[in-house]
Amino acid sequence: MIAEKLLEWYGKNARVLPWRDVKDPYKVWISEIMLQQTRVETVIPYYERWMELFPTIEVLAAADLQQVLHTWEGLGYYSRARKISETARLVAAELGGVFPRSVEGLEKLPGIGPYTAAAIASFAFDQDTLPVDGNLSRVLSRLFDIGTELGSKEFLGEVRRVGMEILPAGRSSDFNQALMDLGSSICLPSSPKCAECPLAAHCGSIHDPESRPVRVAVAAIPTRSKLACAAKRGELVLIVKRPEKGLLGGLWEFPAVECPEGDLGQFVAEMKKVYSLDVVLMREVGKIKHTYSHFHVMEGIWVCSVGLVEAGENTAWVAMEDLHKYPMGKVDRSIARLLLRGD
Ligand code: ADE
Repeated sequence: MIAEKLLEWYGKNARVLPWRDVKDPYKVWISEIMLQQTRVETVIPYYERWMELFPTIEVLAAADLQQVLHTWEGLGYYSRARKISETARLVAAELGGVFPRSVEGLEKLPGIGPYTAAAIASFAFDQDTLPVDGNLSRVLSRLFDIGTELGSKEFLGEVRRVGMEILPAGRSSDFNQALMDLGSSICLPSSPKCAECPLAAHCGSIHDPESRPVRVAVAAIPTRSKLACAAKRGELVLIVKRPEKGLLGGLWEFPAVECPEGDLGQFVAEMKKVYSLDVVLMREVGKIKHTYSHFHVMEGIWVCSVGLVEAGENTAWVAMEDLHKYPMGKVDRSIARLLLRGD
């Protein structure tokens, strides 16, 4: 009954999305990785551009990692793009370009966890499985009044159990996407629109929906102070490539160090220590604030002159108008724009 009502509602209200009703596991996979931690509206143009550039897993497997990172630029969490590249190569080279069909087989691939594996198995292969994301968790925990803590093993177990109980065999793709759409349009985290909900008559927490799911208090995230150096030589500016592993791995950036706000002596000393750069500070051109998953950054930018620095594999002197050719994270792209504007 619940599933019937849900599917009827979905038939009339499904969002039109470029990855909807797509059965190609490659496309489902890319859309699902892009959608993690990122809003649907943000993802759409990235997804469309991606499919123009890399229409198949073979094309992606043959693409240069820097081009892949560049196409991903702006979506954040760059390790996702690196793992996509790794998995494409593996599937193309070792599995003949064919994705495993089982959740277990999919989960063995780099960057594919339980959620993504279940999403591919359900949307591409119509298997009866639940990709439990934030929307599914919220809708099912409200519907069945699940009182365990969000994120706990018990919670996930209960969500899976009740979800599988009402999942109509063979219809998991529509069923799961219907739950996702219901969660993003009606069963909202705050002020859900219960009056419009097709499942209101079945909802176990209708009298206090916002009490579900039960959330644990999250600690406030810290702010890190950084200073970055825009080292100029004539019309050129110095950028460096980050190590392949770790945060923003393989992306380009302006040399920057963490140091207490305003401590310019330490800034100069750290530039020498970390980058072997002899910097002479000229003027501050601005500050950029950005939030990563676990911390905020406040980064001040100084135009500097530096002693002789040779370009190399991980060091480049670049004209301002060519900075866009180098993949960068959000903070460094903002610095590049600031410099190009001549601020
Ligand atoms: N969020 C993640 N995957 C989705 C999908 N296929 N449809 C709607 N929202 C989603």
